[in-house]
Amino acid sequence: MEFGLATGSLVTQRSGCVVAGVYEGRRLSPAAAALDAASGGALGDTLRRGDLEGELGTTRLLHRTPHLAAERVLLVGLGPQREFRESRYRSALCAAVEALRGTGALHATLCLHELAVNGRDAAWKIEQAVLGVMEGLYRFDRLKSRPAARPALEKVVFAWPDGAQAAAAREAIARASAIAEGVALAKDLGNLPGNLCTPARLAEQARELAARHGFGATVLEQPDIERLGMGAFLAVARGSPQPPKLIVLEYRGGAPGAPPVVLVGKGITFDSGGLHIKPARHMDEMKFDMCGAASVFGALHAAALMRLPLNVVGLVPATENMPGGRAMKPGDVVTTMSGLTVEIRDTDAEGRLTLCDALTYAERYRPAAVVDVATLTGEIVQALGDVATGLFSNDDALAREFIEAGDRAWDRVWQMPLWEEYQSALKSHVADLPNIGSHDDCAAASACFLSRFAGYCPWVHLDIAGTAARSGADGGATGRPVALLVHWLARRAGAAG
Ligand code: BES
Ligand code: MN
Ligand code: ZN
Repeated sequence: MEFGLATGSLVTQRSGCVVAGVYEGRRLSPAAAALDAASGGALGDTLRRGDLEGELGTTRLLHRTPHLAAERVLLVGLGPQREFRESRYRSALCAAVEALRGTGALHATLCLHELAVNGRDAAWKIEQAVLGVMEGLYRFDRLKSRPAARPALEKVVFAWPDGAQAAAAREAIARASAIAEGVALAKDLGNLPGNLCTPARLAEQARELAARHGFGATVLEQPDIERLGMGAFLAVARGSPQPPKLIVLEYRGGAPGAPPVVLVGKGITFDSGGLHIKPARHMDEMKFDMCGAASVFGALHAAALMRLPLNVVGLVPATENMPGGRAMKPGDVVTTMSGLTVEIRDTDAEGRLTLCDALTYAERYRPAAVVDVATLTGEIVQALGDVATGLFSNDDALAREFIEAGDRAWDRVWQMPLWEEYQSALKSHVADLPNIGSHDDCAAASACFLSRFAGYCPWVHLDIAGTAARSGADGGATGRPVALLVHWLARRAGAAG
């Protein structure tokens, strides 16, 4: 898909389809009003016949509108004007793309970014439109014997009548296209089922990215992981015949020797729960348990496309969590790479067992900050649903950076407490700490567990169990939080973002 700007008059512009908004009560947006005037009231006529009221998400396609050079006009309902805010802007875009898919238009001209969206600037609106279009066009059909027909659409341009600020708009398009590529990569990996998306496949993906962008790439195999003393990570891997991999990617966009930021992604390619086996219902969705890893790959891919001037390390401990004959058992005690011993009280709390060793490994980079991204707890889904990612941090300034990046990326986070009081739930009578809390385990206890291994630098934990994927036939991986990570990296790099 190609994106661009179209300067000049909407009326004389040749396009397969011009897309303009209509608020509830049949109120035309400025672009729709201009098209209406030029066409001698053709748009108003359609509305008066009752074909579109302006309800959010509804659309109406007009053909061969008099005096317009465009072949089609697509009117998109926006809902009440005073309630038109960020999420509705995305919904309207989604509806527009859905309608465009059903046409033969090769080329579309969007005008929705002219709308006022809660004070957002043009760059924000363009970026969200590019991401919305790519989201609407995304299908994961590579495993179908007959893939669905591709949409005809090849090019989307933003109407940009006066030509002012065109450079900033083009920059926003470039940034959003890079983010969209990262999001698509994360979605593809997330949607790939567990029999295909194995630890070895993730390692291969890392090598592909390294070859394309010149990343440093190292894949540590089981004997290497043993030598490092990663007893917790290895305990998770024991229940599966798939060998574990510790994947290390290094993007060197910054000054040589400048401290990197480290992104650690949970890479459980299937989480059966282990001997604490999960209920059968929805167990298939545990193929998404590597979405943290996928988002780290996606963010690195986007960062490299944007040539962000900073150093980033991606770390992915990849394994399955299975109940094989050699699987870890409840009550087992393992020694982590940090030297701390852990009592495995629940084999389904496996993510933190892999992440703790990866966090210890990250220390060798003397990082400026460490971020882990993980589908870690069902409880964060109870708390925040599929809207916000749960954020925990040992550093309030870093947490604020993420809250701001999330708002700007419209890939939002909500900070959860990591208070001393929650730490007291992590007591074991045999080991230094257990892998679950003694009370009703809460998302906070899992974050507390991780914090014991990340004390050496500012650290953020993103619990994406609710935001990384949606269930159901229309669901699948969302590509979150790639946009959040890229915005944060861009801010860190001092680039606009
Ligand atoms: N991968 C799951 C968390 C999860 C749950 C992700 C639902 C996506 C949707 C994780 O490994 C897990 O099993 N967590 C347990 C922790 C419990 C045993 C302390 C959970 O949340 O139930
Ligand atoms: Mn689990
Ligand atoms: Zn898991």
